[in-house]
Amino acid sequence: MEILTRIRSTRAVVDGWRRQGQRIALVPTMGNLHAGHLALVEEARRRGDRVVATIFVNPLQFGPQEDFTAYPRTLAEDQRRLSGAGVDLLFAPEVEEVYPRGSAEPSRVEVPALASALCGASRPGHFTGVATVVAKLFNIIQPEVALFGEKDYQQLLVIRRLTEDLCFPVEVVGVPTVRESDGLAMSSRNAYLNSVERQQAPELYRSLCAAADALRAGRPAGRVERETEAALQGAGFRPDYVAVRRADDLGPVSEPGGEQVILAAAWLGRARLIDNLRVRCGGAGTQ
Ligand code: PAJ
Repeated sequence: MEILTRIRSTRAVVDGWRRQGQRIALVPTMGNLHAGHLALVEEARRRGDRVVATIFVNPLQFGPQEDFTAYPRTLAEDQRRLSGAGVDLLFAPEVEEVYPRGSAEPSRVEVPALASALCGASRPGHFTGVATVVAKLFNIIQPEVALFGEKDYQQLLVIRRLTEDLCFPVEVVGVPTVRESDGLAMSSRNAYLNSVERQQAPELYRSLCAAADALRAGRPAGRVERETEAALQGAGFRPDYVAVRRADDLGPVSEPGGEQVILAAAWLGRARLIDNLRVRCGGAGTQ
């Protein structure tokens, strides 16, 4: 696996592959890799001839009070995992390479239709930061296909939307959430949980499963949201939101039926956990 930190040399390598007619698959990450990230790499290998992974803790998507400095950085271990998973090139730039004029006032990509609700409401500017860095990575690597996790469902929709709106010739593929054996969605931020909190954490997934059952049984979305929030509170979480939305655009569910998604964000100690489940109401099957 080649490891590069500069845009110029990365482009040269990828251009060479493209000239040979090879299909480039991109897996953007912030590092501290786990099996969820590796599932994206696996899918990338199926869909591309060459896999480019990126590791970049993007300052633009962290609020001033958030964990940019504390975010776990484990580059040596990450390199080992990516290499073992069959990644061809790791692009791991410094902040100055991506934001040479500083990260305070760069040109930005806004996705207003999707970025201000749910996680965007409690993390102002977060999705603009995500959209901006993903657009930059699309321009740097120019992949044919890019892989993102369904665990960050709102992020996935923001990226789909920016790709469409800005005419990036990139196929955006969502990969199902990888979970621990007790159901907890894998996340780098799970490392912030102490051992007691780690025992409580799977309750987030369990309460979403119960909510999905209730929706399939025809319970009204608003009631399911309130009950799920109360269940999380009872289990020791500080819920940020629980929301039932249309799965394709996160719009409000005005009539029962169709594909819905139940999304939740909740604090447990100093970890802000998110998770979601898709629910087909009036039909069969969940994520
Ligand atoms: P990061 O949190 O490192 O996640 C990188 C990718 O891995 C994202 O697409 C995320 O949805 C996916 N992922 C994380 N946990 C997962 C799990 N348990 N199962 C499946 N996929 C999972 O998301 C980001 O980084 C950043 O916002 C980024 C897109 C790289 C832009 O900076």
